[in-house]
Amino acid sequence: MTETVTVRVPAKVNVQLAVGGARPDGFHDLANVFLAVGLYDEVTVTAADELRITCEGPDAAQVPLDRTNLAARAALELARRYDIDPAVHLHIAKDIPVAGGMAGGSADGAGALLACDALWGTNASRDELLDICAELGSDVPFSLVGGAALGTGRGEQLTALEVGGTFHWVFAMADRGLSTPAVFREFDRLGEGLDIPEPVAARELLDALAKGDPDALAAAVSNDLQPAALSLFPALADTLAAGRAGGALAALVSGSGPTTAFLARDPESASKVAEALSASGTCRTVRTASAPAPGATVRGHSPF
Ligand code: C5P
Repeated sequence: MTETVTVRVPAKVNVQLAVGGARPDGFHDLANVFLAVGLYDEVTVTAADELRITCEGPDAAQVPLDRTNLAARAALELARRYDIDPAVHLHIAKDIPVAGGMAGGSADGAGALLACDALWGTNASRDELLDICAELGSDVPFSLVGGAALGTGRGEQLTALEVGGTFHWVFAMADRGLSTPAVFREFDRLGEGLDIPEPVAARELLDALAKGDPDALAAAVSNDLQPAALSLFPALADTLAAGRAGGALAALVSGSGPTTAFLARDPESASKVAEALSASGTCRTVRTASAPAPGATVRGHSPF
C-alpha cells in the first residue's frame, strides 16, 4: 500500500531584523524576531522508485527540482541519519513567493522533513528535527515551529515569544527575486568602516507583540537589511510609499526582500492597503494574511 503525507508550512515576516558584523564563517549574528504569517506552502510526500520533486503554483518555474532544493536536502538528511532509502516523490504546492524574503524555501525544507518523518515512522525527537533544520538553513527551524520567536546566533537558535492578539498584514510581491547572500554582501559594503553594534531585540517590540498592539508594533518594527535591499532594488521605495499612502501603520521590507510587508490596524484597513497597492502598479501581486500562524502541521496521512 502506498501512503502519502501532506504537511502545511507558513511563511514568515521579520518584525525586527537586527544584523551584526560579518563573522569569520561569513554569517552574521542576528537578533531576528520572526512572526509566522498565514500564507502557506504544502509539501506532499509519497513513496516512489527514486527521489524526485515536482512543484505547482504561480512561481513554480523558478523552483529548482534537483537535490539543491531544501525539501530534497531535508529528506536526504533524515534518510541518512536513520539509514532509510530516500526514494520519495516530494510535491510542493507553492503559495509563498520564491526568493521573496518570506522563507519559502525554508518552509519546504521543514515541511519535507516533518512529512518524511511521518511517512517513514522515524519518530525523530523535536530536538533532532530542529538540529536537522538548523543544518539546512538559518530560517528553517522557525518554519518548523511557527508562532513568533526570537532567533539569535545566525537566526537558528530560537526562543518562543508570546503574542497577545492577531496582527493583520498585507504583502506586496515584486516582479523579481533578491538573493539573500547578495543582500548580506550589500549590507557589509554599506557598513564598511562603520562600527556595527551587537544585535539585540528591542524591548518595546517584544512588549507590543505580547500585548497584541498594532500601533505599538508599527512604531517598533525595524529591518537592518532594508537599506541593502533598497540599494539593490531601488523601486521598492515606491511600493513602500504606496502602502503608507494607502493607510498602512508600518511599511518595511520582509527579511532580505524584495517582498514588502505592511501592517494594518484591522482586516478592513488591510483590504484598503491591498487595494491601494494593487492600484499603484508598483508590484506584481498583493496578498493579505494574519499572524501568528502555526508552524509545520501534518494535514493528512492517508493510504493512496
Ligand atoms: O542560512 P541560509 O542558508 O539561509 O543563509 C543564506 C545566506 O544568507 C548565507 O550563505 C549568508 O550569505 C547569508 N546569511 C548571513 N547571516 C545569517 C543568515 C544568512 O550572512 N545570519
